[in-house]
Amino acid sequence: MSTISKKMTSNKSQAGHQAEENAEVEKIRARVRARRLQTARELAGRMQILPDGTRVFIRFNARERFEHQILIGSFTTLGLTGLMQSFSRIGIVSWVINILLGGIETLRTIHHLAAIVFGIQAIYHFSGIIYLWFVKRELGSMWPKWDDLKGLLGMFKFNLNMAKERPAFDRFSIEEKVEYWALLWGTVIMGITGIFQWFPLLITSLLPGIAIPIARTIHAWEAILAVLAILTWHMYHTVIKENNQSIFTGVMTEEEMQETHALEYRRILAAVEFIHKASLKHQNETKETVEVSHEMVELGTTD
Ligand code: HEM
Ligand code: HEM
Repeated sequence: MSTISKKMTSNKSQAGHQAEENAEVEKIRARVRARRLQTARELAGRMQILPDGTRVFIRFNARERFEHQILIGSFTTLGLTGLMQSFSRIGIVSWVINILLGGIETLRTIHHLAAIVFGIQAIYHFSGIIYLWFVKRELGSMWPKWDDLKGLLGMFKFNLNMAKERPAFDRFSIEEKVEYWALLWGTVIMGITGIFQWFPLLITSLLPGIAIPIARTIHAWEAILAVLAILTWHMYHTVIKENNQSIFTGVMTEEEMQETHALEYRRILAAVEFIHKASLKHQNETKETVEVSHEMVELGTTD
């Protein structure tokens, strides 16, 4: 083969490679666009317009609200029946246990039943996290970020009257993230130490006997910490300070969103605009998928 024909063959194969690469890049781009469109749809769906024209924002879906109500029921029962055991020597508590409930066994049975509900809820929630991390490959909006430190500092300044405006938060504020991670961590501790006390024979066949009294002490003190955290931190931030009812009603008003979740609010509006532009383009019968406009803010994640 002459040098010229060799060169031509190699140019042809190079062009073939280039075409394959271009096709691959185009496929990836199409996937990214489809994903952005899906995110935008989900985000835009969070804004609802009532018949009188008022805009409301969906904060928690039915599944999230149901999870929280199960948590209220099981946690309150566990806290009450657990702390009654810790303080059973107090006169009124002893009367409730022995006369009203007919003995400590009833109290323990209620604690165990509530622990099963609490445990199932926890497993369900952890499965959701696994799905989010490993199937959807997203960290989720509760994941800590460096910006949270800025939010923390901003909240200190705002609370101390050193700043006029509160920092702009995304889906979850710093107070909400702290609450969530404390609960997650507390659930693991309470679950493990609870199981240690529930099945002492099994545990001591694997670990030294001292493990049981240690577990009991940790369980009892963590219970006090968790109950106090809910009664002070959580109740103050949700009920007293904000009168936030979104975990029951599912929605927030536009003012509440602007004030407490300004970044998420902007992302939702950007998504609504994006979907609007997309449908306009579709109406114009353009076959290509809509490109994200540069002036739009990042859409981010939905979970
Ligand atoms: C999956 C979670 C949990 C399990 C498996 C569990 C299990 C247990 C068990 C087996 C006991 C020993 C007495 C008994 O048999 O009833 C106990 C005691 C206790 N539990 Fe739990 N529990 C759980 C969660 C909680 C939570 C969330 C709280 C409080 C918010 C709590 C508060 C207490 C308290 C205060 C005691 C008495 C400790 C003492 O003074 O001896 N438990 N728990
Ligand atoms: C009657 C009692 C309770 C009320 C009125 C209440 C209220 C609320 C409200 C309004 C929110 C939504 C906050 C937001 O906009 O993000 C929320 C979220 C949450 N709640 Fe509760 N709650 C109660 C009990 C509990 C209990 C017992 C637990 C757990 C042990 C809990 C754990 C959480 C968590 C982890 C969140 C998500 C993080 C956050 O947004 O703060 N709540 N709750």
